[in-house]
Amino acid sequence: MNNQVKILGCGLAKAQQKITNFDLEKRVETSDEWIVQRTGISSRYITIDENTSDLAVRASLQAIESAHIQNKDIDVILVATMTPDCLTPSTACLVQAKLGLNDVPIFAIDINAACSGFLYAFQLASDLINRYQKILIIGSETLSKMLNWDDRSTCVLFGDGAGAMIIGQGSSQLFHYANSEGDLSGVLKANGLTLTQNLQNQIPIDQFLTMQGNDVFRFAVRVLKESIENVLKQAHLTIDDIDLIIPHQANYRIINHVAKRMKVDISKFYMNLQEFGNTSAASIPIAYAQAHEAGLIDEHKRVILVGFGSGLTYGATLIDKVGGEECVK
Ligand code: ACO
Repeated sequence: MNNQVKILGCGLAKAQQKITNFDLEKRVETSDEWIVQRTGISSRYITIDENTSDLAVRASLQAIESAHIQNKDIDVILVATMTPDCLTPSTACLVQAKLGLNDVPIFAIDINAACSGFLYAFQLASDLINRYQKILIIGSETLSKMLNWDDRSTCVLFGDGAGAMIIGQGSSQLFHYANSEGDLSGVLKANGLTLTQNLQNQIPIDQFLTMQGNDVFRFAVRVLKESIENVLKQAHLTIDDIDLIIPHQANYRIINHVAKRMKVDISKFYMNLQEFGNTSAASIPIAYAQAHEAGLIDEHKRVILVGFGSGLTYGATLIDKVGGEECVK
């Protein structure tokens, strides 16, 4: 068991432009029917002129308001992202500046654990809570800038967005599990610009996100189940004791497989992927904020956050009695 915390507030930011499956039919050889049947996704939001830090700031301002605190009360900013505005300064430092906190002493870092990033950041935050008062944890992504929009096997899956949470010291008990498999096979990767390419002055040809979908699918089903079972065991609880599971929003069929294997009603898994697609590190905090707004999470609830991503990374956190304040949409 880890330090006791309280979720004080949460918020989310949708990217500016909604892209439906029908819009994508005009771009690549695909169909709304194929995308919905294989993934459950109907639409996603794509940024027009906002970068990752802009989305992060919008989500943070909602979280700050719902926590009934002021910007200057924040003393840690953790940003989970694999699509930072730039290599340096970190997105966390950009968020600090955009929140007007340049003169406030802040512990600010980015965390890249791909789609598991928010879980990793949340777990780190719960370890930092003995040293700090108010920790702003953000998952923010502009995946649209690293997608090959001519590759139908990936571009239909992802979207942009941000979710944020503020935690402080409190009475919620947390049970964590996190792991990575140091995968070099490239089942899920995005090179971006590599040093070698710069030195050789070559135009990068494989910087976009690529994925071996079937391998990722099998991995996801295995580790989501493993992660949920691990935190339940630590907490001496069964799945029946859990009110809501908020999984990484990658694919309806992945979540459905996990529910079947665990003999859990699918309604226990919160899903918004039909609207948002896969927003990587932003998906869990966006889903959390929406579930809270919908009244599905109150201070008496037991909630599991669970995810997986490139790395390959995965993990879960069981929050025993959430104890959060009102969230805004
Ligand atoms: N529209 C139409 N046809 C398509 C599309 C598309 N958008 N994409 C692929 N196809 C075709 C393929 O080319 C293939 O055609 P072929 O049989 O002629 O070769 C056929 O559909 C079947 O392809 P599969 O890859 O076998 O389809 P599958 O049922 O496995 O679904 C999918 C693919 C949706 C990607 C699935 O494997 C999946 O969801 N995997 C997990 C992906 C995931 O979760 N990624 C995120 C991980 S974490 C992170 O985000 C960093």
